[in-house]
Amino acid sequence: ETGMFTFDPGFTSTASCESKITYIDGDKGELLYRGYPIEQLADKSDFMEVCYVLLYGELPSPAEKEKFLSDITYHTMVHEQMSRFFAGFRRDAHPMAIMVGVVGALASFYHDSTDINDPHQRMVASYRLIAKIPTIAAMAYKYSVGQPFVHPKNNLSYAGNFLNMMFSVPAEDYKISPTLEKAMDLIFILHADHEQNASTSTVRLAGSSGANPFACIAAGIACLWGPAHGGANEACLNMLEEIGTVDRIPEFIARAKDKSDPFRLMGFGHRVYKNFDPRATVMRDTAHKVLDELQIDDPLLDVAMELEKIALEDEYFVAKKLYPNVDFYSGIILKAMGFPTEMFTVLFALARTSGWIAQWKEMIEDPTQKIGRPRQLYTGSPRREYIDLDKR
Ligand code: SDX
Repeated sequence: ETGMFTFDPGFTSTASCESKITYIDGDKGELLYRGYPIEQLADKSDFMEVCYVLLYGELPSPAEKEKFLSDITYHTMVHEQMSRFFAGFRRDAHPMAIMVGVVGALASFYHDSTDINDPHQRMVASYRLIAKIPTIAAMAYKYSVGQPFVHPKNNLSYAGNFLNMMFSVPAEDYKISPTLEKAMDLIFILHADHEQNASTSTVRLAGSSGANPFACIAAGIACLWGPAHGGANEACLNMLEEIGTVDRIPEFIARAKDKSDPFRLMGFGHRVYKNFDPRATVMRDTAHKVLDELQIDDPLLDVAMELEKIALEDEYFVAKKLYPNVDFYSGIILKAMGFPTEMFTVLFALARTSGWIAQWKEMIEDPTQKIGRPRQLYTGSPRREYIDLDKR
């Protein structure tokens, strides 16, 4: 009994960890960050404020919000020597490979922040990660397209600064569209945290050994990369492009139902949501706004809308409670905003760093936490004697 929710004892007895950060009701399609409904945060808040809420549990006062913002922007630059890491990668390296490597390497530059027993250093490490991950992500993109790195500008919003680092070039001024800035901030809010998903559990497990926060976040990035998890937004767009036209949708629906075919409808289904993913609902509206603002008539959105309609009416998907998830629409918006598909999961990792670090902080500050040690059910051979080679 927490006074707010009455958990089914059977559920809590199997829960892998307790947390006060994010609550999901998969049947109702409900998502709360520290008790605040995602729809209200999406409508009224901004990503920096959501980072504060995830980290500290309460909405900041105006003064607290201003100080948090200045504390974060203080750390937006990376050590100049870090820019040399990128030259070690092939130009066509997947940016998630770069993110895993460079984020993990932050530990070799910010040794002071690796002292997990010092509350101040834990806070600095958290702020450094939230502040530097957009800079590193934009550097990964610039490197891939052969353009010069763009330094952060602390007079821009978090989302605006990221768009500027991504798309501005020295030869021309870059005008940040307020609609795109708002859409970017919204995408960050919607992807910020999601309870004990695979990558968050990876961060907690890595952190439970006392590994430094940079290494833990690098581990989370590695896990998120998978197409069943954060890689689904990139996989979803690739699927929509493979479908190509509305008339080919039935062929792919049939493949998704065929158990002998490993094909899954990317952007559909969820381990927890057996109703609409509330993030997908917000994302759907944003997709239309961005495409209208950019005057983009993207045939892929037509395919996506028709696929969603057919899937929601199909008895197989209805029976299995397979609904569009957060990744279904995010790819369409990101493509419309000019991001290449291989950057989609990088943006997911960028936003999720706030949730990962909040979950890491909660775990580290729990005096009862011990090193994680998932148990196994042994199904191998019973004890048996060794047979010498010449007797086999
Ligand atoms: C994210 O955990 C999180 O919170 C993750 C996330 C976050 O914010 O961190 O929400 C982000 O990862 C969202 C999910 C993104 N992934 C995809 O969109 C990839 C496509 N989706 C599937 O791979 C799948 O739905 C999973 C991996 C997401 C969930 O798979 P499960 O656990 O097998 O789902 P399930 O148990 O509910 O499946 C029920 C049935 C199964 O068939 P049966 O064994 O009962 O015969 O539905 C089938 C599944 O095979 N199924 C699908 C399907 N997803 C599930 N069939 C076709 N297409 C799909 N997409």
